[in-house]
Amino acid sequence: MSIDQLAETAQAMVAAGKGIIAIDESNNTIKKRFDGVGIECTEENRRAYRELLLTTPRLGDYISGAILYDETLRQKTRDGVPFAEVMHQNGIIPGIKVDKGPQPLAGFPGEVCTEGLDGLRDRLKEYAQLGARFAKWRAVISIGDDIPSGTCIEANSHALARYAALCQEAGIVPMVEPEVLMDGEHDIDTCYEVTEVVLRSLFAALYDQNVMLEGTILKASMIISGKDCPEQASVEEVAEMTLRCLKTTVPALLPGIVFLSGGQSDEAATAHLDAMNRMGPNPWPLSFSYGRAMQSAALKLWSKDIAGNVAIAQQTVYARAKDNGLAALGKWVKAE
Ligand code: 13P
Repeated sequence: MSIDQLAETAQAMVAAGKGIIAIDESNNTIKKRFDGVGIECTEENRRAYRELLLTTPRLGDYISGAILYDETLRQKTRDGVPFAEVMHQNGIIPGIKVDKGPQPLAGFPGEVCTEGLDGLRDRLKEYAQLGARFAKWRAVISIGDDIPSGTCIEANSHALARYAALCQEAGIVPMVEPEVLMDGEHDIDTCYEVTEVVLRSLFAALYDQNVMLEGTILKASMIISGKDCPEQASVEEVAEMTLRCLKTTVPALLPGIVFLSGGQSDEAATAHLDAMNRMGPNPWPLSFSYGRAMQSAALKLWSKDIAGNVAIAQQTVYARAKDNGLAALGKWVKAE
C-alpha cells in the first residue's frame, strides 16, 4: 500500500465535522461497563450491544470510523451481515484495537508497559483481510509520586513506534495513543509537563522507526487537572494548555489528532473539544475518539430494556455523535 492510500484513510478519519466512536473495550473492560448497569456479559449481549451502536441510523453523518475489539470484528448482525460490511455500507471506516493491554513494568512499581508486538505482523495481515483500515495501540502513563519514570515513557514510546511501523507495512493507519491518566491529585501544570515529555518521546520514536507521519493519527489525552485535584481548571484553561502542548510537540504534517474522553463527563469532553476548535485555526483537524463519552448515556438506557430500548438508545448515540461532530467544528451549542 502506498503512503498516498494511508494518507487518504487518515484524512477521511478526521474529515470535517466527523470523529471516531471507540467501541473496542476488551471483554474484561466491557464486563465492567455491563456490570455497572446490570447487564450480563455474555457473547450475545456484547454482540447485540455493538450491533445497536453500529446500526444507529445515519451514524455516518458525524462518525467517520469505529474502533472494534477482535471479537467484534468477527461478529455479525442478527441478520448475518458482518459488522465490517455494515460499517462499509454506512460510510464508517473499520478500525481495530491491536494491543494486548498494559502489563506491570518489571523493576518499576506502579508503572505499566503495553504488550502485543509478538505475532503482530500476522495479526495485522488478518485484520486487513477482515476489513480493518486503521488500528489502535494504547499506552498508559500514570502520574504519581516520582512517576512516570523516563524508562516507562521510553519503553511505551518504543512499543508504539514498533506497532505503528508494522501497521503501515500492512497498509493500516496507526492510531497511536499515549494516554496520560487523569487519576490523581496532580494539578493541570503537572499534566502539561508529563504530557509534553511523553509526546516528545513518542514523536522521536516514530521518527527513529521510519513511521510516515502523513499516514498516522494521534489519539491524545487532554491537558486537564487530576480527578482528585482540589483546583479544577476551567474549560478555557484546558483548551489553551492542550493546544499549547500539542503545538510544541506534534509536527504539523500529521493529518489529525483525536482525543480520548478518559473519564471526563460527556459534557466536559464535548465542551473542551469545542473550545479548542473555537480557538483555531489549528495546524491539524482536532476531533474525538471517545468511548465512554459517546456510549454511557446509551448504555444506561439500553440496560433498562435490552429488547425494547434499542431505538431510543440509538437516538442517544446519534445525539452524542452530533454534539461531538459540531464540537469538532467549534460549533457546538450547549443545551440550556
Ligand atoms: P474513553 O473515551 O472512554 O477514554 O475511551 C477511549 C479509548 O479508546 C481509550 O483507549
